[in-house]
Amino acid sequence: MSVTVADELKARTFLVEYAIDRAPFSRRLPDEILAMGGFGCRQVLELLNRLCDGITLDPPASYLEFGAYLGRSLLAAAWHNRGAFIGLEDFRQRHQLGGDPVALADNLRRGRELGADAAVLEHDWRRYRPATDVSVFFYDAEHSADATAAAVVHIAPFLAHPSVLVVDDLEVMGVYPGLVRGLDEARLAPRAQWELRKADGWHEGLYVGVLP
Ligand SMILES: C[S@@+](CC[C@H](N)C(=O)[O-])C[C@H]1O[C@@H](n2cnc3c(N)ncnc32)[C@H](O)[C@@H]1O
Repeated sequence: MSVTVADELKARTFLVEYAIDRAPFSRRLPDEILAMGGFGCRQVLELLNRLCDGITLDPPASYLEFGAYLGRSLLAAAWHNRGAFIGLEDFRQRHQLGGDPVALADNLRRGRELGADAAVLEHDWRRYRPATDVSVFFYDAEHSADATAAAVVHIAPFLAHPSVLVVDDLEVMGVYPGLVRGLDEARLAPRAQWELRKADGWHEGLYVGVLP
């Protein structure tokens, strides 16, 4: 009996739900990656790693992140996982948040030694069109309503079926309305979605959706 699209979607939803349940107790990632400069928190990083789990995903993850900063969340996703792991970063918030290309390159080099193979393209995500379908997309660049909505609309045609959409800083003003607008404009209807709260340790709030 062949696996149907509905079966795949159901299985992916189950895996995502399991990853969310386990992430707060998860201690997979090496200290060296956790100690790199970055935003977010351990359970978000552990979740990204579990969402890209190389053992359970077939085909392997095609992970894309907008807003790679110093590479920590990208490397967390890639660590000991199979697939392609790409980040976009143009350092436009360098004066506000810090971050620089040399420190990023050092982290990517160290990540490779630790078993996290990832690449960062240094340009505006608005000019990037992925060459392969994206199975896990993490948006962590500018947290305005317009940028969040635009990113969801921009990435929609490149999403695999099924795919997982993750948006950081859900409780930062503008992100939630931007996400809702983006999903609506892109006509994306999640099969399942979670709004994970800052009060439960999910950084500034995190959205996770499974898209058909
Ligand atoms: C919050 S930081 C990312 C944190 C990182 N994901 C982590 O967990 O450590 C946001 C980054 O997005 C970058 N950024 C904002 N808008 C961008 C754009 N249009 N294209 C590329 N990078 C952008 C900023 O330069 C900044 O370094």
